[in-house]
Amino acid sequence: MRSISRRDVTKGAAATMLALAIGRGNATEQPADALLAPIKIGDVELRNRIAMAPLTRGRAGASRTANALMAQYYGQRAGAGLIVSEGVAISATGYGWNGSPGIYLPEHIEGWKATTNAVHQRGGKIFLQLWHMGRVSHPDFLDGATPVAPSAIAVNDTTYTPQGKKPYVTPRALTEAEIATTVRDYAQATLNAREAGFDGVEIHAANSYLIDEFIRDGSNKRTDRYGGSIENRLRFLREVTEAVVKAWSPSRTGVRLSPWNPYNDMTDSDPAKTFTAAARALNEFDLAYLHVHETRTIANRVAPAMREAYRNTFILNGGFDAATGAAAVKAGEADAIAYGRLFIANPDLVARFRVGATLNVPDSKTFYTSEAKGYTDYPALAG
Ligand SMILES: Cc1cc2nc3c(=O)[nH]c(=O)nc-3n(C[C@H](O)[C@H](O)[C@H](O)COP(=O)(O)O)c2cc1C
Repeated sequence: MRSISRRDVTKGAAATMLALAIGRGNATEQPADALLAPIKIGDVELRNRIAMAPLTRGRAGASRTANALMAQYYGQRAGAGLIVSEGVAISATGYGWNGSPGIYLPEHIEGWKATTNAVHQRGGKIFLQLWHMGRVSHPDFLDGATPVAPSAIAVNDTTYTPQGKKPYVTPRALTEAEIATTVRDYAQATLNAREAGFDGVEIHAANSYLIDEFIRDGSNKRTDRYGGSIENRLRFLREVTEAVVKAWSPSRTGVRLSPWNPYNDMTDSDPAKTFTAAARALNEFDLAYLHVHETRTIANRVAPAMREAYRNTFILNGGFDAATGAAAVKAGEADAIAYGRLFIANPDLVARFRVGATLNVPDSKTFYTSEAKGYTDYPALAG
C-alpha cells in the first residue's frame, strides 16, 4: 500500500535526470529531497520518509512508566515522518533494561498519553516498539525468576541490573503453552498501545531479543515445531504477527528484523536464506512496513534480497546520512530511511536535512543515563 511506489520514485529520479540533461533542472535541489516526499504506510500518512529509529534511552526510572521528560524528548523529534519509540516491555517477564518503559500496566498506558499527545500536537506520528528481551534479561529484573528463551543457552557477557554489573544467567526454554501465553502478551500490549494513543506498533524481532532468538539458529536448538527448519524458526514471529494484526490491524503494524547484528552472541548459519524467508513470510500479512536494520557498508548485505522478497513498504536503517539515505530511496533500495544516533543529537533532524545544515554530534556517554542532560538539551537550529 505505498502511495508512491518504488517504481514511481525511480521514475521520478529518471525524470529529474532527464530534466537536468536538457537544461530544465531545479538548481536548488537539495541532497535530501527524495526523503522529503510524503508516503502512506498502511493507514498512516507520513509527512516525509525520514523515520526516527527505536532508541532505548533509559529515562523511565524504576516505575517503568513513561514520564513528562520523555514526552518532551519525543515531542522535540515530531518532525520525523514516523517516530518508532524505544523498545517497550510487553510484559513483566519480557523486561530487562534499567529505566526502560513498559506497556503492560494501566499506569504505563496513562504515562504514554503525554508522549503520544506531544507528538500529535506537532503533527507527527509514533509507533510503539513491542519488546520482549528473552534471554537478555536477568533475574534481578524478574523478582528472581529465570529469563526465558527458545533454548537454555546463556549470553556469554555481562549486563547492568538494578543491583550492578552481573553475568547473564542460563535462560529457561519456553514450553509450548508458555509460547502461546507470550503471543497473547504481544496482543494485549498492542491493545494497550492503541489505548495510549499510538498510531501503530512495531514488533521488535531484531537485535538479539526473544523473537530474534527464535529466528536465528545459534540461539534456537529446539526440536519441536518452533526449531530446526527455517519455517519452524519463523513460526513464533508469524504467530506474534498474526496476534498483533488481529488485535489492531495489519495496516497499523510494522516488523523490525536485523539479519547480521552479532550483539549478545547472535549467530545464524545462513542469514541470507533465513531473513529472505522471513521477509517473504511477512507478505502474508499486508503490514504497514518491514524495517530492516543492517549496517549500510558491510559486505554480503541481505537487505537488498529482503527488499526484493518483500512486497510492501520497506524501511532501511544503519549508518545513513542525508545524502546516502536520499540516494537509497531514489535508487529504490527503500521507501523510507530510519536514523538512530543522528536523531539523538538532532531533535530537528528533518529541518537540518532540508537546508543542509551542520549536525550536532551525539554523545554516547549520555545514551543511557537518567537525566535531561544529553536527552532533551541538544539544540535545534535558531529561528
Ligand atoms: C542508544 C541506542 C539505543 C537503541 N535502542 C534500540 C531499541 O530500543 N530498539 C531497537 O530496535 N534498536 C535500538 N537501537 C538500534 C538503533 O535503532 C539503530 O538500528 C542503530 O543506531 C543504527 O542506526 P544509526 O546508524 O542511524 O544510528 C539502539 C541504538 C542506540 C545507539
